[in-house]
Parts: sequence; structure tokens; C-alpha cells
Amino acid sequence: MSRLSVTLFGLTFLTFASAASLVPGRAFDRFITIWLENQDYAKAAVDANIADLKRQGILLTRYYAHTHPSQPNYLAAVAGDYFGLNHDENVRVPEDVFTVVDLLETKNISWAGYFEDMPGPGYMSDASDGSTGNGGWDYVRKHNPFVSFDSINMKGEHLLDLQSFGAFERALAAKKVPQFAFMSPNMMNDGHNTSLKFATDWSHRFLQPLLADGAFDGRTLVMLTFDECETYGVPNQIVTLLLGSAVPPALKGTEDATFYTHYSILSTLENNWELPHLGRYDVGANVFRVVADQTGYTKNKDPENAPAVDNSVSYPGQLNNETSKRLPIPVPNSKLVGAGGQPILEAVRLAWAGKDGQTPYDGSGRVNDGNRNPPIYKRPAANSP
Ligand SMILES: *[C@@H]1O[C@H](CO)[C@@H](O)[C@H](O)[C@H]1NC(C)=O
Ligand SMILES: *[C@@H]1O[C@H](CO)[C@@H](O)[C@H](O)[C@H]1NC(C)=O
Ligand SMILES: *[C@@H]1O[C@H](CO)[C@@H](O)[C@H](O)[C@H]1NC(C)=O
Repeated sequence: MSRLSVTLFGLTFLTFASAASLVPGRAFDRFITIWLENQDYAKAAVDANIADLKRQGILLTRYYAHTHPSQPNYLAAVAGDYFGLNHDENVRVPEDVFTVVDLLETKNISWAGYFEDMPGPGYMSDASDGSTGNGGWDYVRKHNPFVSFDSINMKGEHLLDLQSFGAFERALAAKKVPQFAFMSPNMMNDGHNTSLKFATDWSHRFLQPLLADGAFDGRTLVMLTFDECETYGVPNQIVTLLLGSAVPPALKGTEDATFYTHYSILSTLENNWELPHLGRYDVGANVFRVVADQTGYTKNKDPENAPAVDNSVSYPGQLNNETSKRLPIPVPNSKLVGAGGQPILEAVRLAWAGKDGQTPYDGSGRVNDGNRNPPIYKRPAANSP
């Protein structure tokens, strides 16, 4: 039988069989993120289900989404930028924009996106007619960031990794849940068409089996989050909980007041698995402290403009629906070192070679303060419309 040694809280354990296929991370071996919709921090933090789940994990008390409406927040989490997107219509991001998928693949770390009520693997259309009998459109493309990236959707094998919740349940039963799983419940269960209580009742039910001892092989970090807050025109603070067997017992029921955004998902994955980076806003985003403390990462800090965080409107960019705000896709910064201690992903460097002078990404972790100050993008004049 194959063996793998896993170091946990300073103790080394041997795990067997199925764990042998896991690529061990420094603080966790699997990351599952589950996305709910549209709730303000102040309301969600006092919800009874959230409070109960918090006893089993860590509440992140300064976590900000990026903009409104939903879709750009989902794109940001996998690509390290949302490219000015300010709407929920179908978009296509060109093939030279890389994502978390490419980072994970450098180490053959298995991944999947699970979308409740998605009619079939890799479904590309914008919605599906409610399989839950509500007569509505329960799966929506705007909550599935992967299909919008040509670097993913042009590859058949990647489309096969975008599946329904049924596929997740089967993987769970077979103890074959991939090491990175991004999950969006349908429009009812994520709270979009229902209520905070509906979404957190569902989450509580859904999560309990995942948080039970032995639910997974390896140390699993489960992240429950909202895509954005409900009220527009405010900084966009949301509730995020970190749960699962990768949370040390001593941290259960605690709070972490480090400044985070959805880009922290990327930097945390990079830090945990020593992955290269995308050269965008993933570089400089704070790493979840529960992970940083275990890996010895010491670069977490408040961005210099944190007090001015105003992630309530989209900055200009390629995907903005106002032509006056359309700018080219920015060049990644190939000079930075990411939270994984690694350089930029080689494929990104090659795709953008020779354009280094134009990058707006400085690795500082600066956030959008677009309503008060000029946009975060300082583009060379020649590239402005
Ligand atoms: C851009 O999208 C927003 C959000 O859906 C919408 O309110 C606005 O009318 C759109 N603007 C244009 C120019 O299409
Ligand atoms: C990933 O898997 C491929 C195909 O199985 C193999 O050729 C490659 O060496 C693996 N890479 C790593 C980093 O394990
Ligand atoms: C959810 O609301 C949207 C409008 O925002 C509607 O088109 C859709 O049918 C609703 N879906 C369900 C399942 O109620």
C-alpha cells in the first residue's frame, strides 16, 4: 500500500491509499469554496446558522468583495482581475488570460467546478430551466466563472471538470473529491431568489456532513462566502467562514481581522502549494492567516489605501459595457514573486513577453477606491480610448 506522510500541527502522520494521490499542501490538502449570494456583512454575521457554523471555524471580519453585480466577483476569484466587468451578461475572456486552473495544473492538483442544476458537464449556455420544479432558471452562467475563460472553455478536458452537484455527491461518496473545488448552489439555495435564512439553512444542512470527522482524506479547508454584499454604494463587506479539518481546533470559534478580498483565494492557494502566480491582483493579496501562520508567510499587511476601500463600482476595463470605459486587458507583471515564493506562471510570461513596461499590477495589494480617487488602473495614455 502506498504511503504519504502528512505533517499536521507539528506531528507527522502516515496516511494510506487514497491519500497517496493527493498533492500535499503546507497547511491543507484540499480547498472547497462554496458561494452564496448578495448579503451584507452586518446581517449575515448575526444569522443563527452562520453563528452556529462559526463555532466550528474562523469568521473573517474584514473580507471585501470587488464590485457589483455578481459575475465580476466570480471572475476575480479565479483570474486575479475582473477586467472592468460591470454586468452579468455572457462574456468571453481571451485565451491568453490564465486562471487558477493553470496554476493548479503545474502540480497536477485535481480541480473541479460544481454548479447545482448544471444540466451537463461543461454546459456553456447562460441558464437552465429549473430542475427543482420552481419553473425558474436555477443554474446560471454568471455564477460559474470558468466557462467564460477561453483558456478553459476551449479545452474539452477542462469542460469535463465543470459539473453538477450530483457529481460532487458521487465524488464525496467515493472519497474522490478533487483538491480544489469551487461550488455554486442554485439560485434558490444560494439565496439569490430566496432569503438569507433560506441560504444559510441550506448551507448548514449541506456543510454538516462535510465537516464531520473523516468526511475527506487529507486536511480540507472549506470556505463559505458570499459573492458580494446586498447594498450597493457601500464598501462591499461580506461574511466569509473558514471551516473543515484544516482549521486547527484552537482556532475554532475565533475571528480573523486581516484585510481580504476574493484575490486572497488565489494567493492562499499559491502559498499553500508553492504555486507560481498570475501576475495580476493575486500578487500582494493577503493569505488567509490560518494558512500564513503555518507556512511562515509574513507579508500580510493592510493595503496602503485600505481605509478608502470602496469596492462598490467597477473600474474601467475590457469587459465594461460602457465603451468609454473599455481598456485593453492589462499586461501581467512578470517581475513579481507571489505568495508561493514562485515567479509568474511560465505560460503567462510567454504569452505576454515583451510588454512588461505596461503592467499596472504592482503587487501592493491596493484595492479599488474608485468612487473617491481615480481608478486603480493607470494605463499608458496611448492605450486609452
Ligand atoms: C451595463 O450593465 C449594467 C448592469 O447590468 C446596466 O445597468 C447598464 O444599463 C449597462 N449599460 C450598458 C451601456 O449596456
Ligand atoms: C503531471 O502529470 C503528467 C502526466 O501524468 C506528468 O507527465 C507530469 O510529470 C506531472 N507533473 C508533475 C509536476 O507532477
Ligand atoms: C430567480 O429570479 C430570476 C430573476 O432575477 C428569474 O428570472 C428566475 O426565474 C428565478 N428563478 C427561480 C428558480 O425562482
